[in-house]
Amino acid sequence: MKKMVVLSGAGMSAESGINTFRDAGGLWEKYPVEQVATPEGYRLDPELVIRFYNERRAQLLTVKPNHGHELLAEMEKYFNVTVVTQNVDNLHEKAGSTHVIHLHGELTKVCSSYNPNDLRYVKELKQDEYEVKMGDLAGDGSQLRPFIVWFGEAVPEMERAISYAEKADIFVIIGTSMNVYPAAGLLDYVPRSAEIYLIDPKEVQVNSSRRINVIQKGGSEGMEELLSRLT
Ligand code: OAD
Repeated sequence: MKKMVVLSGAGMSAESGINTFRDAGGLWEKYPVEQVATPEGYRLDPELVIRFYNERRAQLLTVKPNHGHELLAEMEKYFNVTVVTQNVDNLHEKAGSTHVIHLHGELTKVCSSYNPNDLRYVKELKQDEYEVKMGDLAGDGSQLRPFIVWFGEAVPEMERAISYAEKADIFVIIGTSMNVYPAAGLLDYVPRSAEIYLIDPKEVQVNSSRRINVIQKGGSEGMEELLSRLT
């Protein structure tokens, strides 16, 4: 089976009703990114940050995977698929994708404030624990924080993502503005021989000289077209 690696971003979940970050009406318009997605913001006002992610978790309970997620899960019939997602939701898994790497963390998990990457203290929350409170502690005695990679923090899953990108026969970029590094740099590791596709309803500026097959459509329609082109 050919190896397919998919880099997904917020646009993948847009049709499920989760706002993207940088489009008009996006999350970073409503919540300043420095406040809710940086270690400095968390130091200044942990309560605000914890509340922001509690709200994101509450929203997660109300949304479902969309047709795009489902078609991507179906790709596993034809290809050996690795999904590398920048999304912190769990909609790829819910749709049935079996191999998902979360570059920017996971909403359903919490971790230590001392060292977010100390895996001994990373914990998956049950649905009735989705509301984290000030004073809820990790195993090392620190405040439980969201297991999210904030701006300025290391991206520990990047290495694993690169090791798959380097072996890709087909590389698909879907629903990401390709603004955020190192995620956007994954394309640089894709072999010259690989076919590259990009699905997005808008024109995306990609910083690469590679030949890219652009499917200028939303997630569901775009995945439908990809499936019919490849199978
Ligand atoms: P952006 O909000 O930057 O980009 C979303 C992309 O989705 C844009 O290119 C849109 O055109 C596209 N889009 C909109 N609707 C779509 C649809 N129905 N189908 C397909 N695509 C659609 O989001 P990301 O690139 O994912 O990090 O942002 C990257 C990272 O920046 C995020 O992981 C997040 C953010 O700050 C953290 O929170 C750490």
